Order: sequence, then C-alpha cells, then structure tokens
Amino acid sequence: MSAVQDPSVTVPLNDLSRALRTERAELVDAMTRVVDSGWLVHGPEHAGFEHDLAAFLGVPHVLGVASGTDALELALRAVVPADRPVVLTAANCGGYTTTAARRAGFEVRYADVDPVTHLLTAETLAPVLDAQVGAVVVTHLYGRSADVAAVRAACEPLGVRVVEDCAQALGATRPEGRVGSLGDVAAFSFYPTKNLGALGDGGAVATRSADVAQAVGELRQYGWRGKYTIGRTGGVNSRLDEVQAAVLRTRLPRLDAGNARRRAILAAYADAAPAGVRVLPAAGADHAAHLAVVETDRRDDLVVHLQAHGVRTDVHYPVPDHRQPALVADLGDVHLPVSERLAASVLSLPLFPELTDDEVARVAAALGGFA
Ligand SMILES: Cc1ncc(COP(=O)(O)O)c(C=O)c1O
Repeated sequence: MSAVQDPSVTVPLNDLSRALRTERAELVDAMTRVVDSGWLVHGPEHAGFEHDLAAFLGVPHVLGVASGTDALELALRAVVPADRPVVLTAANCGGYTTTAARRAGFEVRYADVDPVTHLLTAETLAPVLDAQVGAVVVTHLYGRSADVAAVRAACEPLGVRVVEDCAQALGATRPEGRVGSLGDVAAFSFYPTKNLGALGDGGAVATRSADVAQAVGELRQYGWRGKYTIGRTGGVNSRLDEVQAAVLRTRLPRLDAGNARRRAILAAYADAAPAGVRVLPAAGADHAAHLAVVETDRRDDLVVHLQAHGVRTDVHYPVPDHRQPALVADLGDVHLPVSERLAASVLSLPLFPELTDDEVARVAAALGGFA
C-alpha cells in the first residue's frame, strides 16, 4: 500500500524538521560565522540582514526586532499620535495587533472584513473610520495581499496612518510593490512557521520614512537616542540577535521559490475541492500562500473526514478578537457578522514547501472525497 492510501501515515499541517535537514549545513555555517565573529547582538549579520531585507522589499529602512508582535507594537508607537490613541483593525487575524496595541496603551476598534477575501478593505472600515483613529492596521491574512492603496486613499484625508501586518505575507508582490512597502510602516514576523522563519523568535519593521525608522530604532533599545541616554519614552528591549539574523540572511534567497511551491500546492487543493468547500485561492504573486484555508458550513464534518484520511488540520482563527474572553468586558457589545461567521467556517489544510507530491495528492484526494 502506498502512503497515498495508508491512513496510518499522517500528513502534518507543518513539519519544520524537513527544511532544517535540507538546509543543515548552510545553517550551521551561518551560526558558526556568528560564533567566530564574537558579535552576538546588533553586529554585522544584523546589519546585513536589515540591508538584504530592505533591498528585497524595495524600502530604505528595515529594523530588526525580537518578534512580530514587538514589530507591530513599535510600529504603532512610532506612528500613532498621542491625541488620537485609537487603533482600527480586523478581528479575524489572530489577536496579534490587539495584543500589540493594548500593550502600547492604545484603544482597539474593529471593522468587519470582506466575505470573499477575508481582508479589511476601504469599504469595510468606512463605517468605523473617523478622526479619533490614529492608525489602521491592515493584515495580509493567510498571505493574501490587501489593497493598501485603497485603504490609504480612505485614511489619508483624515490623517490616519496605515500599518501593514506582513507576518503571513512576506514576498507577496503587487504591481505597486512588495507588501511591506505599501503603507506608512510594516511589521514582519520570523516565527519558525512563517514563510521566512528563524530558529526561534524574530521580527522586523520596514518603512520608507526616515522619521519612523529613527523612532523605531530608538524604541527597540530602551528609547536611547545615544548610548545610555533616553531620548524617547515608551522604549523597550527588542533586538533580533546575530544568530537569527545570520539564519534569516541565509534563507531569504529561497523565499520566492518557497512561496511559488506553496501557491502550486494550494492550486492542487482548489482543483480538488468538492461543492460546498471553497478553497481561498492564491493564484498569483500577490499572494504568499502562507496558509491553505478552506471555508465550509460543515467544518466539524470535514475535520473528522480529513482526520480519517490521515490529514491534519487547524483553525486560523476560532475566536475573533472582540469575542476573546479576557477582552469582552473592555470592548462592550461589538458585532461583526462576517468575522463571526468566518471564525466558525474556516479550516486550514497542510501547507509548507517541503510537502511531497504524494502528500499533496493525498490531501487533495481526501478533500475531493468529502461528500
Ligand atoms: C498575522 C500575524 N501578525 C502578527 C504575528 C505575531 O508574530 P510573532 O509570533 O512573531 O510575535 C503573527 C504570528 O505569530 C501573525 O500571524
């Protein structure tokens, strides 16, 4: 019996060990470079990675930080004015912006999302956008790039800054440019499962603005303007270390090929999907295909069916931000019909570049056999 038929052989949602095995020699070389250099923090690998990522994105400034959540927090601290401490975002993106904005002391307000793309749009944010809002955070959810230009056109007349959350979308490219180059400032995560993953936590902020870059550069290191001199309040310790920077530099050149493989896998699932199961498409380079998400009214049945065929699944995300138990009391009675419906109907299938063709065929066959 081949693995394609044997249900005792499972297809994992993700398996980081495969890329680690393939890339082992290069990763060890990168880490050895760091050990031999004697630099552990903010040294040549960090500067090199900031430079490489800036060139990849087509922006003048990239700043390494310790995580994607820190990147969001520092980006918000840099652009949200003190007299408009409200951050507007979507509630279906896993709560990271909510965590970051609340940690920075801002109020969070939610807009609903488009039912087809699952993204915030100029239309969905219009009913809750006003001059109290300091910044809108647009998440390129599941890797699909949002129309940031349209969001900016709605925000700019009101003086609202636009932050891109690119944690799931590094490499996605629209005609206007790469995600991360489209708003006022952008946040990236290099959590190990991301399309560009570190061997631990990591993040970055990207911006075209020298002022925003200076603010984030100070905020990430205690608010120091010069060594041991605090020139800005709100500073934290959030650094991307040399080992992670060296690993990320090594991996960045593979990113576009990995994203193309991800899109091809997602296309195979889309071709196989039965009636009643909609695979969110990732046809072109404007999509980094981070997660393979399907939508169905019969999610529980589909989970059981796929499990019986040895296919692992997960839900991104089951609880919208405004329904999170620890936040409900603060937020009051917010109603977001689309986000709430999606939380009950989305399901993620295995998706990572090292899935074998057999495994992809197996997931597609299992999906196609759901009746
Ligand atoms: C959309 C999104 N934003 C932000 C984050 C936060 O990144 P991190 O886990 O590196 O803090 C993540 C991932 O974890 C994410 O998926």
